[in-house]
Order: sequence, then C-alpha cells, then structure tokens
Amino acid sequence: MNYKIRQMTIDDINDVIKGESNAFGESLGFDMLYQELTINPSACYFVLEIDNKIRGYIGTWINENAEIVNFYIDKKYQNQGFGKMLLNFLLDLIEMVNEDSFRIKNLSLEVRVSNIKAIRLYEKFGFTKSHIRKNYYKDGEDAIVMIKDFEVNK
Ligand SMILES: CC(C)(COP(=O)(O)OP(=O)(O)OC[C@H]1O[C@@H](n2cnc3c(N)ncnc32)[C@H](O)[C@@H]1OP(=O)(O)O)[C@@H](O)C(=O)NCCC(=O)NCCS
Repeated sequence: MNYKIRQMTIDDINDVIKGESNAFGESLGFDMLYQELTINPSACYFVLEIDNKIRGYIGTWINENAEIVNFYIDKKYQNQGFGKMLLNFLLDLIEMVNEDSFRIKNLSLEVRVSNIKAIRLYEKFGFTKSHIRKNYYKDGEDAIVMIKDFEVNK
C-alpha cells in the first residue's frame, strides 16, 4: 500500500463528491468545491491518495480563526490511522505557518453530537468542546463546536 497527502485540484472534485456522499450521505457539491478551489483565498483542501486513488480528504479555511470544513476517510480505510495522519498533517502545517509570519490563533469545527468516534479523535488532538449549535444539520441533529487553541508568541 502506498499513500500520500497532496493539495486537492479541480480534477479531484468528482472523486471527493463520491467520497463525501458515501461518508455523510451528502456532499458540499461541485459548485461549492469548485469555488473553494478557485476563488476562496482562505481555502486549503488536501486529499489522501492510497494506491493512487482518493480515499479521504480534509477541507479547511486557514485564517486567524481557522476552520475544518469537511473531513472523511473512506469506510474501507477507516480505523487504520489515516484520519490521525490527515489531522497531524494539518496541525503541522499550522505550526509551520505560525512559525513564519501568519498567526493562526485557533482551529474549530462542527461535529454531530452522535459522532462519538470523531469527537474522541478530535479530543485526542487537543480540541475541546465549546458550545452546541442547535438543529445545525438538515435532519435536525445538533452540532458540537470544538476548538483547539494555538500558542501565539509573537
Ligand atoms: C472520523 C474519521 C475521519 C476518522 O478517520 P479514521 O481514519 O477512521 O481514524 P483513525 O484510524 O486515524 O483514528 C481512529 C481514532 O478514532 C477514535 N475511535 C475509533 N473508533 C472509535 C470508537 N468506536 N469509539 C470512540 N472513538 C473511536 C480513537 O480516538 C482512534 O484513535 P486510536 O486508534 O489512537 O485509539 C472517519 O471515521 C470518517 O471519515 N468518518 C465519517 C465522516 C466523519 O464523521 N467525518 C468527521 C466529520 S466532523
């Protein structure tokens, strides 16, 4: 098995839509993903390739207050450490950016209250529960907002 993390391109959109739909039952959709990759200066999207196929991705907005927009690993490849690998990659990137001139103060995300696995994973990476967004999802489920703060020295 060979794998790599690389920046997402427009050519990856259809594969990501399929993966998101399998993982969440819905996708951000072609138009939004296309806009993210072409006109949103904050958007940083990365795909995980395993044996030359896209098997996961993480989409983020990198600002002073950064956000994880979407994140999945294909079911077949879950529980093998790939989710942790993508999160580590993102956190390393933020650390590098913060060592340079740009300052990212925190990273936040929304997660379904029932998604215990993802919540545990985020807690493992130092995210803490901030507050609840009532009826956040289309089916009425609440979201927990989780945040990780970064030390900003300069
Ligand atoms: C959440 C998700 C990205 C994690 O990816 P993954 O590759 O399966 O995760 P990893 O194998 O790297 O990490 C597994 C970690 O999840 C947690 N975990 C796994 N199974 C768990 C369970 N049954 N209960 C609680 N926590 C669990 C543990 O913290 C575990 O870390 P450990 O192996 O060190 O104990 C993946 O499950 C996924 O795509 N889910 C569907 C989409 C989704 O929910 N995305 C997040 C939206 S906010």
